[in-house]
Amino acid sequence: MSSVRNNKDKTIKDFGEQWLKYPGNEGYYGSLELFSDILSPFLKPEQIRDCNVAEIGSGTGRFVNILIEVGAKHVIAIEPSDAFEILCRNIRQPEKVTCLKITGDQLPAYGNLDYIFSIGVLHHIPDPGPVVDAAFKALRSGGHFLIWLYGKEGNNLYLTLIRPLRSITKRLPHFFLASLVEIIYWPLVLYNMICHRFPLPLHGYLLSVFEKASPNKRKLTIYDQLNPSYAKYYNQFEVKKLLSDGKFVNIQIHHRHGYSWTVIGTKPNF
Ligand SMILES: C[S@@+](CC[C@H](N)C(=O)[O-])C[C@H]1O[C@@H](n2cnc3c(N)ncnc32)[C@H](O)[C@@H]1O
Repeated sequence: MSSVRNNKDKTIKDFGEQWLKYPGNEGYYGSLELFSDILSPFLKPEQIRDCNVAEIGSGTGRFVNILIEVGAKHVIAIEPSDAFEILCRNIRQPEKVTCLKITGDQLPAYGNLDYIFSIGVLHHIPDPGPVVDAAFKALRSGGHFLIWLYGKEGNNLYLTLIRPLRSITKRLPHFFLASLVEIIYWPLVLYNMICHRFPLPLHGYLLSVFEKASPNKRKLTIYDQLNPSYAKYYNQFEVKKLLSDGKFVNIQIHHRHGYSWTVIGTKPNF
């Protein structure tokens, strides 16, 4: 249990340091286009209009701003790390947002939220069950929980390479990790170019997401893979179990760009 706690705390600390170094949300990285791509095929941004929503693990607030932009009535933004200050600073309409510096399992049981989002977060939490339970309690009956997670399927070669590398890089201080990212960047750009001709592993992600981002945000993406202490790659069974164990129903799963999962579940009407 204490190793779960250590991993949880260390991962939050890692993200605090990461976002202090990469605080901006500019370009495709913080765009409606990317957010729509993540929600697809289950939800269109216009369905969020006039809704009360929350985001668990908001980071620097890129999607909080998009939620407001598409017309959410109010957003609860949760971020437990030192990035909380950056989150608050980056919010463009603070009167429509409540920022809380808490972990996901501490989300208050509002019971009236229409949607809760958690994009790229639950796979960084060693024991995500209590977060799913808190989301369930915070939603209204009929409300939806949409999550995006790293996938295991479609990532076999990538995981063979990244797992041993991460055992070292998650311990590196920022300067060394940022230097390593600079080294990895150019071969990856070359690999991306080759993917235009051949359907190599991860081509779906590289052509649909990675290459649309600016060089700085591509480097952040590499850093984000190598930095956090804890990262789990979910298979389809585990993804479904995560939400069904939390009593969600109508669980739908989409294998996004062949490497990750967009998942939505509904809180039943009692
Ligand atoms: C990969 S980032 C994603 C941030 C944001 N959702 C986005 O897509 O830009 C993961 C975020 O989850 C946060 N996080 C980590 N553990 C958490 C927990 N137990 N509860 C809530 N958030 C957590 C981290 O601090 C980090 O900001």
